[in-house]
Amino acid sequence: MSNIEPQNPKPLLALTESFVRARLAGDAGGHDFAHIERVRAVALRIAADIGADLLVTEMAALLHDVTDPKLNASPEAARKALEAFLASLASLDLDVNRVDLIRDVVARVSFGGELPSLDSSAGKAQGNLGGTLEKPPELMAVQDADRLDALGAIGIARAFAYGGSKGQAMHDPELPPRLAMDAQSYRNGKSTSVNHFHEKLFKLKDRMNTRLGRELAEERHAYMRTFLERFQVEWRGE
Ligand code: ADP
Ligand code: NI
Repeated sequence: MSNIEPQNPKPLLALTESFVRARLAGDAGGHDFAHIERVRAVALRIAADIGADLLVTEMAALLHDVTDPKLNASPEAARKALEAFLASLASLDLDVNRVDLIRDVVARVSFGGELPSLDSSAGKAQGNLGGTLEKPPELMAVQDADRLDALGAIGIARAFAYGGSKGQAMHDPELPPRLAMDAQSYRNGKSTSVNHFHEKLFKLKDRMNTRLGRELAEERHAYMRTFLERFQVEWRGE
């Protein structure tokens, strides 16, 4: 990318960090700032691996959840706040191409938003995956990092923390996983945290955008399989 480098990206990142902290304050369902920090770290690793713009990746990773409808009573107000924030960045040396790219990544990163158009094209080279529009590498990096945070030991912890916050059971053998879902029924309807592994988490490894993302996803996927086997054994009292 031929963007002019900001003299010093540190103030930009610090400002973004405090904007995000303020927007996400108080969430107990796994979208706390620690989630943002993990996504930031993994997104930067992936971005370095695929040659994505590191500053855009880092900014977009920080901002990726601020307009999430689950975290905002008014998603419209959240979008406006994000827009005002992005507009203020232009005066801080961040060129308009980068601002546009950050906006695009934040808008497209959510899993729920992608459900209706999911296909099995992950696994092909980094390019036009899982949607009608080509994904910029910065989106690939942030999206893979966000999905990776739903996998592995952290992913397990988040699934049960989320379930607890919604008052849903850990497991209910009488309630089968809902395997064919559109975005609407994914959000609504009764389920359990164990079902969530089958309904969403075990599908993620085949939807990664990047080679490194896929590699990490496979490890974390295997770890979750082992966990669930053990969970079922103990559930039966064995
Ligand atoms: P995203 O922000 O990528 O759309 P979500 O907001 O759906 O992801 O999920 C945030 C975290 O909560 C993830 O770790 C996810 O696995 C977990 N989670 C979401 N829905 C459920 C559910 N119904 N049961 C258990 N965990 C869930
Ligand atoms: Ni997230």
